[in-house]
Amino acid sequence: MRLVLGIESSCDETAVALVTDDGRVLAERIASQEEAHRPFGGVVPELAARAHAERIGPMLQSVLADAGVELEAVDAIAATAGPGLIGGVMVGLVTGKALAFAANKPLWGVNHLEGHALSPRLVDRDLRFPYLLLLVSGGHCQLIAVEGVGRYRRLATTIDDAAGEAFDKVAKMLGLGFPGGPAVERAAVGGNPDAVPLPRPLVGSGEPHFSFAGLKTAVLRAVESGRYAVADIAASFQAAVTDCLSDRTRIALRATPDATALVVAGGVAANKAVRAALEAVAGEQALPFVAPPLRLCTDNAAMIAWAAQERIAAGHQPEEDPQARPRWPLDPAAEPVRGAGVKA
Ligand code: KG4
Ligand code: ZN
Repeated sequence: MRLVLGIESSCDETAVALVTDDGRVLAERIASQEEAHRPFGGVVPELAARAHAERIGPMLQSVLADAGVELEAVDAIAATAGPGLIGGVMVGLVTGKALAFAANKPLWGVNHLEGHALSPRLVDRDLRFPYLLLLVSGGHCQLIAVEGVGRYRRLATTIDDAAGEAFDKVAKMLGLGFPGGPAVERAAVGGNPDAVPLPRPLVGSGEPHFSFAGLKTAVLRAVESGRYAVADIAASFQAAVTDCLSDRTRIALRATPDATALVVAGGVAANKAVRAALEAVAGEQALPFVAPPLRLCTDNAAMIAWAAQERIAAGHQPEEDPQARPRWPLDPAAEPVRGAGVKA
């Protein structure tokens, strides 16, 4: 049995997990920083880095204790090396380096996006390459053809905001608090998704890119008009995002005829309307729809440890002395798309 200790600290979750090569999570801890960031309505990078630094040591001890494993028995350390908020990434990566040095173990600097991309294989051992991944979180909105370990073809990204970011901003406009996604989903219950006429940016365009800035502005106008109930705005916004995600995914599936499945990952995959719509899109092509359990959809360390396990199993070697990277595209060959604020 090969054991990898994973560390994740790229955004506002501090996480540590111990994962075996056959995909068992022996122990796992996740500390969310929602409370710390709530007063600011979004993640404050400096606060996030401090919170990671405070928590990571005790969490490492707890995970090893929970699993009843000594550090010496771990075969490799895996830490997120990017993309993400640089202060937080540095905390986790440097911790990983220190552990690896002290225990004389190899260190894997893992791409956080690769963690998301391979996470479904941690729970679904039958999932074969290639598959189409829709990665929808607070920082990312991408369609990726996952062709193998370390082989990713980015088919689409957002030209402005990520979908989760749009949820968070709309929640703020509606006074629903942070994090916004779950709050908007709750507020949308009982609302009429057709009440507010909202745009579906880029729907129908031949390339499967995303854009949510125009939709967000339209929601702001609806809020300011004072004509609509909060539930109706929330439901209409959620329906618009869902339409965008399913239309873009449908286009990307046409470009990946050999895909064995449609997979969704990232925090927005927690949204029931989004999941249902994507399941329907997969169904149109008679493809299986794979949505990892929520704890694996949002940021976690099991997926980071698992990405290293996959790399080891595929015969890769760890990069020597990996550095923290704020940006780190999974597919370096992907062309940048129009719009400045392209997320990693
Ligand atoms: O993957 P994640 O935990 O962290 C990032 O890497 O960003 O995703 C967090 C994002 C936030 O923007 C949050 O509002 C959104 O996922 N989210 C949701 C829901 N739950 C979380 N969006 C829509 N509906 C939800 N139920
Ligand atoms: Zn993430």
